Amino acid sequence: MSKTIKIGVVGAGSISESHLRSYKENSQAELYAICDLNEERARAKAEKYGIPHIYTDYNEMLKDAAIDAVSICTWNNTHAPISIAALNAGKNVLCEKPLCKTVEEALAVEEAVRKSGKTLQVGFVRRYASNTRIVKQFIDNGDFGEIYYAKASCIRRVGNPGGWFSDIERSGGGPLIDVGVHVIDLCWYLMGRPKVKSVSGNTYRKLGNRSNVKNFAFYRAADYDANHNDVEDMANAVIRFENGASLVVDASFTLHAKKEELTVKLFGEKGGIEVEPELSIITEKYDTILNVTPQINNLSFDFVKGFQDEIDHFVGVCLGERETLSPVEDGVEMMKILCGIYESAEKGEEIRF
Ligand SMILES: NC(=O)c1ccc[n+]([C@@H]2O[C@H](COP(=O)([O-])OP(=O)(O)OC[C@H]3O[C@@H](n4cnc5c(N)ncnc54)[C@H](O)[C@@H]3O)[C@@H](O)[C@H]2O)c1
Repeated sequence: MSKTIKIGVVGAGSISESHLRSYKENSQAELYAICDLNEERARAKAEKYGIPHIYTDYNEMLKDAAIDAVSICTWNNTHAPISIAALNAGKNVLCEKPLCKTVEEALAVEEAVRKSGKTLQVGFVRRYASNTRIVKQFIDNGDFGEIYYAKASCIRRVGNPGGWFSDIERSGGGPLIDVGVHVIDLCWYLMGRPKVKSVSGNTYRKLGNRSNVKNFAFYRAADYDANHNDVEDMANAVIRFENGASLVVDASFTLHAKKEELTVKLFGEKGGIEVEPELSIITEKYDTILNVTPQINNLSFDFVKGFQDEIDHFVGVCLGERETLSPVEDGVEMMKILCGIYESAEKGEEIRF
């Protein structure tokens, strides 16, 4: 029989469902323990997924030597302490994005990875999606030449998830750190992870969370509460890289926009790519511009399959079969970018690294 790894999941809220379902579907993983501050919530997931061990304190859970790996699906302010405790206990870690709240925390997690010899995979789920992998293959083979410009938007018209998401102490910020991180990371990864030179950002708090809006469904924290909101409504930024490339991004929880928007576009010397909203390749041949549509099952990000691919990859990492595609170092670099944008917005000036 092939080896299986025992998994402990910390956090039994909304996104844990995607982790649990994916581990359940992986024949080399065994859901062994679940932990949440809210015991009822942990118990409900344990019953649904047949998980034998339930905890409310992650330190207790980490004492169980049988656990090989841990998925962290909690508030952003707990990512660093839980990651460090899990690594110190000799577990591999899959930590949801963002890696943490600050650069200092990120460096402490990186240090714990180094000392433990274990792997921490940052939950940059979009790196694992089939669309991204297809595009990466083209880029790595030089089909687009040098990628010198990227542009990404993640615009929600009304979509502040409330609860801890809108409490800056627990989240570290609003749409930039929550959803902007996905598209910034995707562009940066596909651009070949160039070194960041400077960032210039703006954040706005003009609209509040607009919890008054009716008949409009949106993602909510497990403990939804609209009463507290001290994060930005929207953010935008220009990120400049040492190789001369640049990335322009905006992200919102709420904005008076006509439509929701998710766009990820990269532009190179020999061609362009739209990753979102639909995979498309733009090029030129015999003096004619071509817009090419790859013939694949899903032209945009498939949430269920994306998580399955991410978890399958992580299980392979734990079994020593492969390296992670989203190592802790990239989580650290992303925290530098995100925190740099917040600092730039606060000071009203460009931040140079
Ligand atoms: N990859 C993605 O696309 C994606 C999507 C949504 C959320 N996320 C990330 O997942 C994380 C969780 O988000 P969510 O939407 O599931 O939030 P949520 O509020 O629905 O669930 C979080 C859960 O964590 C629990 N928790 C908090 N601190 C804990 C602790 N110290 N010990 C044990 N349990 C603790 C809470 O009780 C809650 O049940 C966040 O970091 C978020 O950024 C990622």
